[in-house]
Amino acid sequence: MKILAIETSCDETAAAVAHSTANRIIIDSNIVASQIDIHQVFGGVVPEIAAREHVKQILPVIEQALHSAGLKRLEASHNLDGLAVTVGPGLMTSLLVGVETAKTLALAWNLPLIPVNHIAGHTNANFIDRDLSSIKFPLLTLTASGGHTNLLLMHDPLHYKIIGQTMDDAAGEAFDKAANLLGLGYPGGPKISMMAKKFAEQHQETTIQLPRPMLKRTDYNFSFSGLKTALLYKVREDLTWQDHVAEYAYVFEKTVVEALVRKTIKAASDLKVKTVALAGGVSANECLRSNLKATLEQKLPQVDLLLPNMAYTTDNAAMIATAGLLKMQAGLTQDLEQIIAQPNYSLK
Ligand code: KG4
Ligand code: ZN
Repeated sequence: MKILAIETSCDETAAAVAHSTANRIIIDSNIVASQIDIHQVFGGVVPEIAAREHVKQILPVIEQALHSAGLKRLEASHNLDGLAVTVGPGLMTSLLVGVETAKTLALAWNLPLIPVNHIAGHTNANFIDRDLSSIKFPLLTLTASGGHTNLLLMHDPLHYKIIGQTMDDAAGEAFDKAANLLGLGYPGGPKISMMAKKFAEQHQETTIQLPRPMLKRTDYNFSFSGLKTALLYKVREDLTWQDHVAEYAYVFEKTVVEALVRKTIKAASDLKVKTVALAGGVSANECLRSNLKATLEQKLPQVDLLLPNMAYTTDNAAMIATAGLLKMQAGLTQDLEQIIAQPNYSLK
């Protein structure tokens, strides 16, 4: 089975082609047109601008995805078995561009359409190019992005239950806000991470301390807004903070990573899962990847760890194609009559 997938839930216009063999999902092309440069000057994503950019980019990005996969547009209806598209959660005006394009192509090419949840898509990033029969369930995925921070319990690749989530800011959002506060710009995750690395290379210790949110609670929820406020007060009180940006970045990253890892390990242990996985934009964070690996090896050595390929951490359509293929294999497609009859579709 071969599929074209479209992802436009935030500020990345993405399209990918993928196919499935007996036990493996293989990505034939993965194109992402990022809008980071455009939103950077505003310090965050401006929805109206994002939507306008998606309108500009969507067809060239799809054309490029088909071309890189060795497909021709005029033959796409013969060479593809379906179309997958992200239907939410995300920015409504951004989602609309991808969904309307996918619906139109499905009608023109007479192909089934597979609606994909964005968070499910992120979790599926770990199933790309792996022997699917080797993945052990139950599996716990920590999905941490700019818009969401969830602990998801999965008993199979298609279904998940949210067992923990952020009570306020998402982890990526916290990185973005902290970076903004430290004058590092958008997106904050990679910038904080780079500064933190610089500090760690030159220093052994720090005296700066930030509160460690929610760690005493027994549930699997997170909270990051208090941490951001604590950083703000520390920086305000410190007249020389501009000389210590790398140190603040280091402490902030360390505190966020510790909160994410502690809750993940606790849930993995309580729920006796066989695999732990990381997903979402924040899963690109090297400190988080290495800390989770080391803690898991130490505390739960019998549990497998899945870390997504870097290309599939931040928003992309390869993960949506993977979710789409798995849903299509399970017969979960949308028929065209239903799409035509239901103008609102299922945007979330
Ligand atoms: O998954 P994603 O592309 O979009 C959403 O679905 O939200 O995630 C983007 C988020 C941003 O908040 C960004 O700062 C964060 O992921 N991020 C990182 C890193 N790379 C991206 N956070 C920490 N460390 C990174 N290396
Ligand atoms: Zn995302």
